[in-house]
Amino acid sequence: MNGRFAHITGWGMAVPERVLTNDELAQMVDTDDAWIQARTGILERRIAAPDETTASLAVDATLSALRVANLPPVDLDLIIVSTSTPDYLFPATACLVQDRIGATKAGAFDLLAACTGFIYAVNMAAQAIRTGSIDNAVVIGAETLSRLIDWNDRGTCILFGDGAGAFVLQASDQPGGVAAAVMRSDGSGEELLKIPGGGSALPASEHTFQDGQHFIKMNGREVFRFATRVMAQAAEEAAAKANLKMEDVKLIIPHQANKRIIDAAARGLKMPIDRFVINLDKYGNTSTASIPIATCEAVEQNRLHPGDQVIFVGFGAGLTWGSLAAQWSGPFPTARRVHMRPYRWLAALRSVLRRAFRWLEGLIWGRRQ
Ligand code: ACO
Repeated sequence: MNGRFAHITGWGMAVPERVLTNDELAQMVDTDDAWIQARTGILERRIAAPDETTASLAVDATLSALRVANLPPVDLDLIIVSTSTPDYLFPATACLVQDRIGATKAGAFDLLAACTGFIYAVNMAAQAIRTGSIDNAVVIGAETLSRLIDWNDRGTCILFGDGAGAFVLQASDQPGGVAAAVMRSDGSGEELLKIPGGGSALPASEHTFQDGQHFIKMNGREVFRFATRVMAQAAEEAAAKANLKMEDVKLIIPHQANKRIIDAAARGLKMPIDRFVINLDKYGNTSTASIPIATCEAVEQNRLHPGDQVIFVGFGAGLTWGSLAAQWSGPFPTARRVHMRPYRWLAALRSVLRRAFRWLEGLIWGRRQ
């Protein structure tokens, strides 16, 4: 078979150290551990430290993924960060990552399709590889949702967590890798899951702040209903596009929103739940980061091997949903070993210098005013 294929050759994840348990949440809002566990399956989630941002988590995940792929940052042609919680409205978080890891030859942009974003972004990078436009890409799903949560809203604050995950995609003439994708949206569901304030429709103001319009608003029941409707269907569509039967699929790696949603997808697909990767108990819903984080843990637990057929499936705000079918590859064999430590030091040094610069800037401007 002739052609170019987009293989997943590296993976990495980064989560903050701080663990927020259900019991701690019960001290903040009217809820309890038993309710959260029974209705969501979540036991705890990670919360970013004040000096951590979406970009810093993305950098850590990317460097881990590049280490697995044995690829120096300078060989990257493209960086896509999928996020709903960028460091800034602009510049793109992907540009911050590009600079911090020293990927001097890479183009970089952000993509927003909420929790489905990672699936969209992997598909975009795979398409660019297949057409011959690029050879090496990194796709990152990264979020610091804790910064946009209303910690008084028990309907949302129990669900979300922070984290990042990354895949390296590389070109090869050997068959395998990303085989098919399904991307869907239904913007009529705009109001079901939204951050209303801070954009051009409702610019940030004293009023948006007072009304809490900068926080996540969600109709949980309706989002739940939508998710259970589309998950199984999207997984089946990707499998069909890749000429796979569901029984050929070794693992399904779903968006980690709610254990009951994953159970419903398993019932819909008539597949045993042990063919699904589930780690939302530890991290909650990390939005677009959840699929790559779950993938990293599946590899670590020896559940995914080169040659295995895998389906990634997700849904989120927009509304959006989508799926990918891929044959798992693993790193390309190479004689060289790329050491990431110098790149980590470089990224840390840049971050310290940037903070020192901001501090000095604040000092100078503060004195002048
Ligand atoms: N603790 C205790 N009780 C609660 C809590 C809580 N944390 N939250 C809601 N309740 C109460 C409600 O007030 C309600 O009480 P009432 O019957 O007296 O009015 C009752 O529990 C049931 O409420 P429901 O909303 O029907 O609860 P449900 O079983 O649907 O669970 C949940 C709520 C967990 C939010 C669920 O709807 C869900 O997971 N929805 C999907 C959300 C999701 O996946 N969002 C992310 C999408 S991805 C993205 O793009 C970010």
